[in-house]
Amino acid sequence: MAIKVEPISERFGAEVSGVDITKPLDRATQREIVDIQNKWGVTVWRNTGLTDASHVAFSRIFGHVELAPRHSGKPCRMSEPELFDASNLDIEGNIVSNESIRLGAKGNRLWHSDSSFMDVRSAQALLLCHEAPPHGGPTWFADTRSAYDDLPQAMKDRLEGLEATHSYFWSRRRAGYPYTEEEIDAKPQATHPVVHVHAGSGRKALFVGAHTRDILGMDREEGRKLIDELVEWCTQPQYVFAVHYKPGDMTIWDNLCTLHRGGEYDDTQYRRDMRRTTVRDPLAPAAAIDHFTKMFTAAGDTPFSPAEKTRERVLAAS
Ligand code: OGA
Ligand code: MN
Repeated sequence: MAIKVEPISERFGAEVSGVDITKPLDRATQREIVDIQNKWGVTVWRNTGLTDASHVAFSRIFGHVELAPRHSGKPCRMSEPELFDASNLDIEGNIVSNESIRLGAKGNRLWHSDSSFMDVRSAQALLLCHEAPPHGGPTWFADTRSAYDDLPQAMKDRLEGLEATHSYFWSRRRAGYPYTEEEIDAKPQATHPVVHVHAGSGRKALFVGAHTRDILGMDREEGRKLIDELVEWCTQPQYVFAVHYKPGDMTIWDNLCTLHRGGEYDDTQYRRDMRRTTVRDPLAPAAAIDHFTKMFTAAGDTPFSPAEKTRERVLAAS
């Protein structure tokens, strides 16, 4: 059966069907799916039938699947070390406490590109819905390639060659965590170009979002004004859409040519069980298997632990 691609908008986003992704796929089918993803930036897969294990297995068609960062002192619900828990649930399946919901949700509802605070960036993210709230709880996506294409030439010229810093601790501060600028200065941050060529399509894309802190060589105020202006530009109505989920539905977004944000829902009332795998930028330089732990450990007083159990399991399997 041929793979069916139904565009969501003219240049961005497509619903894909006609292929059973719970089973191993031949090379040609894998290639076709990767090409569809590269072209459309976000793909939506309904009623996939994926389990934790087949979710991880399917993710591997896009490249190296990262180990998910783990919180220390907090047992993890996930059955696979590659699964990132994007739910509002604790290990017993109960809705987590209000304060952590408030800050976590606030951070997630800012437009961002996952892990842009890492030197080694993440490319594809595959977010699978296991349980959805009765109303709402979508993910919003924005097209940073078309947004770049449509910039006035004077702005394209201004952005050429600019680089920006990205910090996890900066976006947490914006969500309300009490980090000072000085504390953030002392923690690891990454530097990336503001405009880059998206390797999967050869098109240029903007690369700024909630983790972006300063433009190198620019006055702090001026840099932050420019960053905010660019994120606003990318998230105008003509570049965005929302995906609403039912259990089994999955979205795949390319972090290198899109922005995303969690949509509104009452997260103190409704369970929302979302699990994500993340695929490393295929062009990235070699990195440690567990590079998140390395970064968070270097950051000092962090909520993250060296994921010893996870690491042992992965090393044993490799
Ligand atoms: C993520 C994320 C948004 C959502 O998992 O990286 O931002 O809608 N999720 O859950
Ligand atoms: Mn995210």
